[in-house]
Amino acid sequence: MESRQHQDAPSRDAKSPEDGIDQPQPTSPLWKPLPTAPPKEFPPDMIQSEDPAGPGISSPAATLAPSELKGQPMITPVPNPATVTPLQLLGDSPQWIDCPFCQRRTQTVLSKRGSGTQALLMHFLLAGWCENVYYTCSNCKHTVAMRPHDGPVQVFGPVQASQTDINLVAMTFLPPTDVLARLQTAGDNYASGKPGAREQLIDLSYALISSLELPSEAIQRMGWAEPARTAHCRIAVDLDLFEHIRDSGSQGIRAADLAVKTGADPVLIARALKHLAAMKVVGENGADSVVATPLSNALTEPRFRNGIIYTHDVAGPSFRALPEYLRSTRYALPTSLTDGPFQAAHKTQLPFFAWLDQNPPYLEAFNSYMSAYRAGKPAWVDPGFYPVEERLAAGYDSNISEAMLVDVGGGMGHDLRELRAKHPSLPGKLILQDRPEVISTVGKEAGSTGVFEAQAHDFFTPQPVRHARAYYLHSVLHDWGDDECLRILEQLKPALRPGYSRLLINEIIVPDRDASWAATSMDQLVFVLGAMRERTRADWEAILSRAGFGIVQVYSFKMGMESLIEAEIL
Ligand SMILES: C[S@@+](CC[C@H](N)C(=O)[O-])C[C@H]1O[C@@H](n2cnc3c(N)ncnc32)[C@H](O)[C@@H]1O
Repeated sequence: MESRQHQDAPSRDAKSPEDGIDQPQPTSPLWKPLPTAPPKEFPPDMIQSEDPAGPGISSPAATLAPSELKGQPMITPVPNPATVTPLQLLGDSPQWIDCPFCQRRTQTVLSKRGSGTQALLMHFLLAGWCENVYYTCSNCKHTVAMRPHDGPVQVFGPVQASQTDINLVAMTFLPPTDVLARLQTAGDNYASGKPGAREQLIDLSYALISSLELPSEAIQRMGWAEPARTAHCRIAVDLDLFEHIRDSGSQGIRAADLAVKTGADPVLIARALKHLAAMKVVGENGADSVVATPLSNALTEPRFRNGIIYTHDVAGPSFRALPEYLRSTRYALPTSLTDGPFQAAHKTQLPFFAWLDQNPPYLEAFNSYMSAYRAGKPAWVDPGFYPVEERLAAGYDSNISEAMLVDVGGGMGHDLRELRAKHPSLPGKLILQDRPEVISTVGKEAGSTGVFEAQAHDFFTPQPVRHARAYYLHSVLHDWGDDECLRILEQLKPALRPGYSRLLINEIIVPDRDASWAATSMDQLVFVLGAMRERTRADWEAILSRAGFGIVQVYSFKMGMESLIEAEIL
């Protein structure tokens, strides 16, 4: 089976000289070679110019071969600045630009490309129906802009080595050569320990994969490879596979020995491990022998084991139910807490949190994973994020209230533990509030450590702790619609002392564009579980103002997923 697949699959050795994208080669009688791609640059006389200067601007620079231009101090004659086209206004003809990469005034070279090999095929069938136009600097060859077949021009710029704010890649298609150039810079930033470089490298790595991957590979990855990895990680949790692999140390362990330890079929284990090794979850140190990786070791920690259980068993089926659910509602936006993809998947009419209460193992997994899903990311109490001493400790008055901070819907109290650990001298009491089902599992422990007091409280009822220095809600409001958020805030508001108490909301703020996958996938998660959404800054302003609060300041951290909104009573 394996050898037949290899034979039928196109070999990916040959590269297109122009863009470095691998081209399929005929290796089997089933494979019909494509005709050679036509030249990708537009002949000037075929281009309908949008430039008043007319089609096919003729200048020395425009007619020089790119290699002749490289390294020249400046292209002459330099056109009048008025004729330089801003990148976002580039049209269908070569135009003068100020290249953001080489900083020269040069002309663009246009090329048309599909958004993948599929589009290359379509090129021949539908004559350019789904092609994107790429604008390349004639001097340095960087792609400076791209106009997708279905949208406005998107502009690209260099990532400066000296740049302090590291941005994620614009969520547009970048050719592999451009991604590689950016990876180089990001790698330098990573080597010099620049904050955000790690995230940028991951983002660029995804961009590289999508720029290289064939459509057939993308579907295979999404449809089989990732679901199989998820399923085998879930099975590994049941069988304690990662624990056995960890315990085998640097020597590793054979699949046959793991089968003996777990009582599972040896062939089943060997095949599962092969896939987990291929997907870089475990390492392979011999035929049917594996060793631990940092990831597989982390997956032995209870909080991450619980993350696998919760995401596989609770969230996963809700995503699988989404297409059928939306088909059944004719693609109306789900707004009900009791009728959505989650309910369809789990055959229940209960809202998400009530369902968790009825399923204690999943309640435990959810609560444990809440302390872990953002582990390793910057937290609001970290230096440089929210100035805890300045905004909370300074000005705290025990005569007004002993309470320093109330964590409303705080789960197991992990945020309060972190606050206390990172700010041990913070005065006053920390109070954890959550539903009785959650508080009953943490109350005892909290009392014995003395980090915080735990209180059962339904946040749809009046807030019992008055005049605390701060009321803190972390990933709470994103579980609710605007009207419920309003009710929660209205129940909280009378407890705040105007001019003293602060409202702290720790949530994702979705940017208008180029949101990270971490933000967009959380939006999708709350969407399938409770018909909810992550919000933009404008959304937060609107909700808070409806509830009678005004934003004092929004604190964000480079590459942090969430922001801290500090608000006060208006
Ligand atoms: C997404 S979790 C966030 C937990 C914690 N703040 C964190 O960020 O890790 C939402 C929390 O709201 C709690 N919750 C839901 N409904 C509640 C209610 N009516 N009253 C109080 N807490 C509630 C849940 O039990 C859960 O702990």
